[in-house]
Amino acid sequence: MRGLRDKVFVVCAGGTGDRQWIGPGIGAAIARRLAAEGAKVVIGDLDEAAAHRTADRIRADGASAVGQHYDAGDEDSTRRLMERAIAEHGAIDGIHFNAMDITAGDIDGQHDLVTLPLDVWRRRLDVGLLGLVFAARYAVPHLLARVAAASSRRRPTRPTWVSRSASPTPRRRPAWARCYATSRRDGVARASGRTRCPPVSCRAR
Ligand SMILES: NC(=O)c1ccc[n+]([C@@H]2O[C@H](COP(=O)([O-])OP(=O)(O)OC[C@H]3O[C@@H](n4cnc5c(N)ncnc54)[C@H](O)[C@@H]3O)[C@@H](O)[C@H]2O)c1
Repeated sequence: MRGLRDKVFVVCAGGTGDRQWIGPGIGAAIARRLAAEGAKVVIGDLDEAAAHRTADRIRADGASAVGQHYDAGDEDSTRRLMERAIAEHGAIDGIHFNAMDITAGDIDGQHDLVTLPLDVWRRRLDVGLLGLVFAARYAVPHLLARVAAASSRRRPTRPTWVSRSASPTPRRRPAWARCYATSRRDGVARASGRTRCPPVSCRAR
């Protein structure tokens, strides 16, 4: 993750939970790592206080970050998050999409494909699937503008990208899940003018 100084990144669902939150904090870890590399980070999260906690922590370390309420399943909310990045920094170089609704329904492990209520499935699809579509829809035009501006310079800057938190054990997932993940990743890559998305590794702490 080099060459990120002054790049502008939006982290979708990068909040740092309080003690009650059980998630391991991949989004917040990504945001902190990007900031440590010199990037300017705009953090959205359904839990607004959690978004501000991550941003406060990054600013306390001397880097640039702002937090904002954001619901990945809501198109207007996604647009507002991207607009915040433009208002703060005038550009977007990359986004990391981390949102997944893991707060409802089967958190106790008691439900399965058959018994999980349909409204939980719908919310999960709205957040995890449509959320990525919304984020790409409002970010990709800005990413392409950056690529176009960079390619007109004598020494172009590194291209931009879209990434998404993914399972570290893809080979163990069923075939349909691998196909879905690959088509989603490649579709986003094509939309942003790349042939493939580079992997970004980050350890959650
Ligand atoms: N934790 C794992 O073992 C694991 C494994 C594979 C993939 N993932 C993926 O990583 C991501 C989550 O990472 P994590 O487990 O570290 O969680 P995390 O600690 O990064 O927390 C997820 C964040 O999403 C926020 N959120 C929930 N619903 C939202 C919404 N509608 N809009 C905006 N923000 C919302 C929560 O407030 C929380 O801050 C998910 O996309 C998940 O599919 C996690």
